[in-house]
Amino acid sequence: MARIVAGIGSSHVPAIGAAIDLGKTEEPYWKRVFSGFEKSKEWMRETKPDVAIMVYNDHATAFSVEMIPTFALGCAAEFPPADEGWGPRPVPVVQGYPALASHIAQSVILDEFDLTICNKMEVDHGLTVPMNLLFGNVGQDGHWPCPVIPLAVNVVMYPPPTGHRCFMLGKAIRKAVESYPEDLKVVIFGTGGLSHQISGPRAGLINSKWDKAFLDNLSSHPEKLVKIPHVDYMREAGAEGIEMVMWLIMRGALDDKVDEVYRFYTVPASNTAVGHIILANKPKGARRAAAPKGAPKRRPAAAKPKAKAPARRAAARAKVQTVRG
Ligand SMILES: [Fe+2]
Repeated sequence: MARIVAGIGSSHVPAIGAAIDLGKTEEPYWKRVFSGFEKSKEWMRETKPDVAIMVYNDHATAFSVEMIPTFALGCAAEFPPADEGWGPRPVPVVQGYPALASHIAQSVILDEFDLTICNKMEVDHGLTVPMNLLFGNVGQDGHWPCPVIPLAVNVVMYPPPTGHRCFMLGKAIRKAVESYPEDLKVVIFGTGGLSHQISGPRAGLINSKWDKAFLDNLSSHPEKLVKIPHVDYMREAGAEGIEMVMWLIMRGALDDKVDEVYRFYTVPASNTAVGHIILANKPKGARRAAAPKGAPKRRPAAAKPKAKAPARRAAARAKVQTVRG
């Protein structure tokens, strides 16, 4: 059975890709950003996923204002880097995983999430920058260490999907992965954000307080995030801060309770806050770990003796008095 072992949240700032491509990673400004991903790359090398699902958004390269699917799943065998105006980034062609991608498409669509299926698609910095940050700079002639299933989400033209819809799609993706018979270790990325606005009177807006609260809740209380309306993202995190809803697809694909493996936050990179988090599902078997031998047996909650009726009534009366008082 395939299983999702971890989720990775990462900004996908285009200037990070440019810094890599132009050999600026050792410059102090950029070193501050890249050094925050060193531990993550180490974790990724140890984790050795068989496949990565990459939730990202297309920035008018594969799609345009003429046609923007809300959710588009890449089912092709490969995804070339897109020309974003300066020629394609010098990174390897991304290898897909058509069998698993088609399985996810079938499972998720039959679960009533109407994905667009893409059998041919170029991928832009939204996908390739997080690849570099987590897998390193493998160069144009190298190979990414694992195949990737891209999931492009519309966050560039109103209306984007709600946070709740994204979170529920994550759950459906998890169900799909876990019904795939091959034994695969899968990681899922949520990319974009964090707070930023690239045009208009508020260009350059960064809201670190909002970003950090988002990361806290993503880790421990994702249910608080799914209710945030679009207008709050835009008001608090800038017009492009709406990209953060994509992190909720990643979070929805994980356990309710996760282990936070790592977190990094820095400002700015270009005019954007850079956020990064790794959340791991507990290893199988750890969720219901057996008590060590000889440990005293805990009494099930249901077996606790109930207070007698008069005592319960007295306690209730005391509570009411406390509230009134
Ligand atoms: Fe973006």
